[in-house]
Parts: sequence; structure tokens; C-alpha cells
Amino acid sequence: MNKKLQPKQKLLESAQRLNALMKALPVGITFSTDTTCEYITGNPYLLRKLEMVRGDNISISALDDNVVSRKLRHFINGRQITGAEMPMQRAIAENKQIGPLEIDVELPSGKHWVMEAIGAPVHDEMGNVVASVAVNVDLTERKRADEANRLERLIEEEKQKNEFIADATHELRTPLAIIKGNVDLALRAKSYEAKSMRETLNAIDNEVLHLDKLLSDLTLLTIEGNNFQRKINPHKVQIRELINRIVKRHQTLAKKKSIEIHIKHLTGADLPGDERYLEKLFSNIITNAILYGKVGGSVRISDKKLDGKIHIDIRDDGVGISKKDSPHIFDRFYRTESSRSKNIGGTGLGLAIVKWIAKAHGGSVTVVSRENVGSTFTVTLPLLQ
Ligand SMILES: Nc1ncnc2c1ncn2[C@@H]1O[C@H](COP(=O)(O)OP(=O)(O)O)[C@@H](O)[C@H]1O
Ligand SMILES: [Mg+2]
Repeated sequence: MNKKLQPKQKLLESAQRLNALMKALPVGITFSTDTTCEYITGNPYLLRKLEMVRGDNISISALDDNVVSRKLRHFINGRQITGAEMPMQRAIAENKQIGPLEIDVELPSGKHWVMEAIGAPVHDEMGNVVASVAVNVDLTERKRADEANRLERLIEEEKQKNEFIADATHELRTPLAIIKGNVDLALRAKSYEAKSMRETLNAIDNEVLHLDKLLSDLTLLTIEGNNFQRKINPHKVQIRELINRIVKRHQTLAKKKSIEIHIKHLTGADLPGDERYLEKLFSNIITNAILYGKVGGSVRISDKKLDGKIHIDIRDDGVGISKKDSPHIFDRFYRTESSRSKNIGGTGLGLAIVKWIAKAHGGSVTVVSRENVGSTFTVTLPLLQ
């Protein structure tokens, strides 16, 4: 008698264990009773998530229009799907594992539950498909966190955009105010003496040039800035040739301040990049080295290769940058008091453009400087593999 009961007892125990397991699992498990998937039930976790109770049929393929599961709506990428498109139903029809699929479930209360579902067919000993199961993992929390992060980023971007517009407006207003002042002065003049008129026109011309420079820098930082990854056209750039060419273009500017540009041994390195932008990058740094350099001084350019990267140094012996200023010089529109007052004619956008181009090439730019001694700007760019 006892011997006969044993297998039954075992079966009961394993059923209890399975039950306990189903109760404890912190993921949703669903299973059908046959291949029609007209009746599907789930473990307590899933029933809770779907706002259902034990015994409820949770199949959206249910034939009975009155069952509570008929109030569930399932969406993939915003499109409502039918019962036949659900992972369990598909697992039977296609006799293979389906998913993971991200499914947004609209619950009877109108709330949403986002899950990741994997469906699989269940076979009998003969290998025939007899039912199916699915594992349904909660994605709602992750979705919520993703959405919160996305919003935070959007707000931050919006804030930066507004600051940028405010700064740009301010910078554009200054030359316009100077132009207006000069025009007013000329209009009020009793006599039009040629010399003073030329001075007025020269002042206006300077500001127009400045406005033009400002606008082209702004265009680079805004329109192209957003599409840079699409616009960048990387090809093999010979860094030595590029620097030699840029230096040649800057000789006239250097001569005006009797500055000598020395190119110390440059490696013949190739790197992947967009020559137009890299030219702008080095041109901005070299222009600064001359503008903020010492009359009769020098600018020295050298490079070294290290760990698959090239480090290019541009060193001047000019005014240098104070400790207070150096953390800000790569910010848009930041100019030190002394360069503003000297009216050198910069836009304050040069180094912001440098930083952005370096970053877009997978590189970086840093500066080491001492006031009244000089500055060294180092551009680091990845080399061709
Ligand atoms: N080589 C340099 N030596 C000293 N100061 C520099 C040098 N390069 C840049 N700076 C400082 O950093 C500021 C920002 O540079 P940049 O973005 O090129 O703007 P801009 O040259 O138009 O003023 C400059 O106004 C200047 O004060
Ligand atoms: Mg500059």
C-alpha cells in the first residue's frame, strides 16, 4: 500500500515545488493549455502585473468576447498587435522560439505595462507541438528611467541652446552698436571733412568684418555642429603636409609681429579626418599663438606619436593665460579681459570650434600656460590603425 502511494506523493511534492517556484519568480510566466492559445494563464507575478486574478483567462485570442483579457491591448512600436502576433501564438505557428519582443500592454485600468517577452513551443515526447510558454520581463521601470534621463538631457540641451542664443545676441549687438554710434556721429557732423569721414568709415568697416567673422564662426558651431557626424568626410590626412600648408598661410600675419614660426621635426603620420575641419582647428590655434604672441617672439610646432595617437604641440612665448582664465578659454565667447580690452578682433569662438572639431575626430585639446611666459596647446588625434 505504502509502496503504491510513493510515486503519487512524489508527484504531489513536485507539483507543490513547481507551484512555490511559480509564486516566487519575480518574472512573468505564461502558458497555454493547448495549441489554440485560446486559454492562457500565468504565475501570480504576471497576473498582478496584468491586473488579473487567479483563474482569469489572459489570452487575447480568447473566443469569448466577455472575458476580462479582451480588455488588454498589446502594442509593438506603437502599433496594436493581434493575438496571432503574440510570442506564444507565434511560437506554436512557427515552431520556434520568438523574441525577445518589447511589448507595451495597455491594462484594463488604462495604465501601461512594458514587458520583454520570449515565447517558446512546448513539445510532447514525440516532438509534436502541444502548447507554448512565455517569459515576460518587466521593462516599465527601465523605460521610466530612460524617459527621465531623456527629458533631463533635453532640458539641459534647451538651457544650453538658450544660453548660446543669449551670448550670441550679446556678441552681435556690440559691433552693431559701434556701427550705429559711428553712423549717428557722421549724420550729426556739421561739415564732412574727408579725414574724419574716412576714420568713421574705417571703424564701420572693421565692425562689419568682425560681424562677418562672428557669423561664419556661429554658422560652423550651429548648423554644421548638429550635423557634423553626417557631414564629416573622413579620409587619410597627411598631418605634416597639412601643418606646413597652414603655416605658410599664416606667414603674413606672423611677419606683422616679427614672429618666427618653427616647425620642429614632424612625423609623416596619417590620420583619419576631414581636412577642411582639421585645417580650421590648427589655423585657429596658430592664429591665437600669433595674436597673443610676443612681438619678435616665436611659435614652435612639434609632434610625437604615442599609443596609436599623435600629439601635436603649438607653443608660443606670448602673454600666457592666467590660472583663473585657463579653465574657461574653450568656452564659447570666453575671452580674457586683456584680449577684450586690446580689441584684437577675435570672436571668442575660435577655441570652442577647436575643441569641438578635436572631439568629433575622437581626439582632444589641452593647454599648459604661464602668464607672461607663454602657452602650449596640445592637440591629440587618433592615428590611422
Ligand atoms: N596662445 C594664447 N595665448 C594667450 N591667450 C590665449 C591664447 N589662445 C587663446 N587665448 C585666450 O583665450 C581666449 C579665447 O580664445 P579664442 O576662443 O580663440 O577666442 P578669440 O581669439 O577670438 O578671443 C582669447 O581671447 C585669449 O584671451
Ligand atoms: Mg582666436
